[in-house]
Amino acid sequence: MTKVLKADNRTIAEAARLINKGELVGMPTETVYGLGADALNEAAVLRIFAAKDRPPDNPLIVHISELAQIAPLIECEIPEVAKRLADAYWPGPLTMIFSKSDVVPLAVTAGLQTVAIRLPAHPVARQLIESAKTPIAAPSANRSGRPSPTTAQHVYQDMNGRIPLILDGGACDVGLESTVVDFSSGKPRVLRPGGVTPEMIYAVAGEVEVDGSVLRPLERGETARSPGMKYRHYAPSGDLSIVEGSLENVVRKIAELYDAAIQSGQSARILSPAAHASLYEGRAVRALGAKDSADAIAADLFVALREMDDQKIEVILAEGIRAVGVGLAVMNRLNRAAGFHTINADEG
Ligand code: TXA
Ligand code: MG
Repeated sequence: MTKVLKADNRTIAEAARLINKGELVGMPTETVYGLGADALNEAAVLRIFAAKDRPPDNPLIVHISELAQIAPLIECEIPEVAKRLADAYWPGPLTMIFSKSDVVPLAVTAGLQTVAIRLPAHPVARQLIESAKTPIAAPSANRSGRPSPTTAQHVYQDMNGRIPLILDGGACDVGLESTVVDFSSGKPRVLRPGGVTPEMIYAVAGEVEVDGSVLRPLERGETARSPGMKYRHYAPSGDLSIVEGSLENVVRKIAELYDAAIQSGQSARILSPAAHASLYEGRAVRALGAKDSADAIAADLFVALREMDDQKIEVILAEGIRAVGVGLAVMNRLNRAAGFHTINADEG
């Protein structure tokens, strides 16, 4: 059975002992909960893939608690621009890709010669890494294909019986996984958008590229620069569609699709920013975010998607939001959850 314990000095020390024995621990970070193992212990790392049913070609992120831990993990000097990004946004929801050294097992990087590294801001994650005295490899602590967990309870739903311990550090602030950035083209390029936005990277680096696959499916023959992006993700069992266009048209279209679903005997739910909830007049709305900002929507999105499954909702109609700032990360996840099914309400 899996224990869920409130994170404190004693339980973090217990978690560190488990990590040092090659076991897995569910741990809070400011983005989403991670499924941690000693990054330098190959057998432990392989257990992560088994516990998640994770495809073996999807590499993990290595978490560190101080900058000095990076040097042994990478082969070259840290690029100048990466240093500046680290200065500005670490600790925080930013993951950077570097050439790996031989210290990092190929199991962590799924055979790639590069390694993804993040210095998280969550005090529990950092104390755990410090206590274990080793970098911690951690993917999101969901079973593959499910939305990432943003509470200890979510981790328990997916991992009960598969791992010995989950540290409960409360709900995650950001609610979406970290921004993944690589430097192989010379410029910082966002492979997966997150809490550190392209605008924030531009402000520090003076340049930024956003990988083409962020808001569209991979084209035939195109290889994913970030292998995780090629998998169908976050998808609820219900049929999720995104509706875009002018607000007036979106509301009309969603109401029409909702009514049709109800009439055909299906359960339906509308996902809309909190400020728009009242426009749907008596229809069942799951308002996203207590206040009306992309940050609040981001923090609530995976919670809402899990609720759709818990409540066995068959038809889910989501309002698209503007893909700027954190809104880009929201639309990236929403598009994957919807299998890129978008309806343009302005086209009749
Ligand atoms: O916020 C987060 O990043 C969370 C918390 C726990 O830190 N972790 C997380 O891990 O989201 P995961 O495994 O669910 O996502 C890691 C992403 C995947 O899309 C993976 O393909 C990509 O990072 N990635 C890892 N190593 C890579 C590499 N060497 N090159 C390109 N992409 C890489
Ligand atoms: Mg994940």
